[in-house]
Amino acid sequence: MHFIVIKDKTVLEKIAHEQPNAKFAPDAGCGILVCGDKALDEEGYIVEDGSAAIQNILLSAYEMGLGTVWCGVYPREQRVESFTRLCGLPSNILPVGFVVVGYADETKEVPERFNADCVHWEKW
Ligand SMILES: Cc1cc2nc3c(=O)[nH]c(=O)nc-3n(C[C@H](O)[C@H](O)[C@H](O)COP(=O)(O)O)c2cc1C
Repeated sequence: MHFIVIKDKTVLEKIAHEQPNAKFAPDAGCGILVCGDKALDEEGYIVEDGSAAIQNILLSAYEMGLGTVWCGVYPREQRVESFTRLCGLPSNILPVGFVVVGYADETKEVPERFNADCVHWEKW
């Protein structure tokens, strides 16, 4: 995977303008665009690889006392096009997701979501 760390407020503002789903990006310290190289993706697991990398970023940031928002990019064409243009990505590079990183100004209660009905043993 490749990681583009974006700290430039002007670029973060452009991202927020073009992608309302990440409208809070300019208020954060940085954004990390997680990208995969399609030329090296022989197995077709670029989304899984990118998502695992994003989850690791979220967990590491949390441990460092930082807040994050995972902003989905692929497969939304408009978002892929926007990041490709704004970040000058070559044609073989696919932006999978964008992680906005900053200091959270609120803490939310974490709901209990475990549902035993969703766990299946041996068969569905
Ligand atoms: C694949 C994926 C894409 C997401 N895209 C966005 C997004 O574009 N903008 C956003 O504000 N949050 C996005 N989120 C974050 C979710 O909206 C939500 O805040 C996060 O998953 C935490 O959920 P929870 O509050 O239910 O625990 C995304 C989450 C995932 C897993």
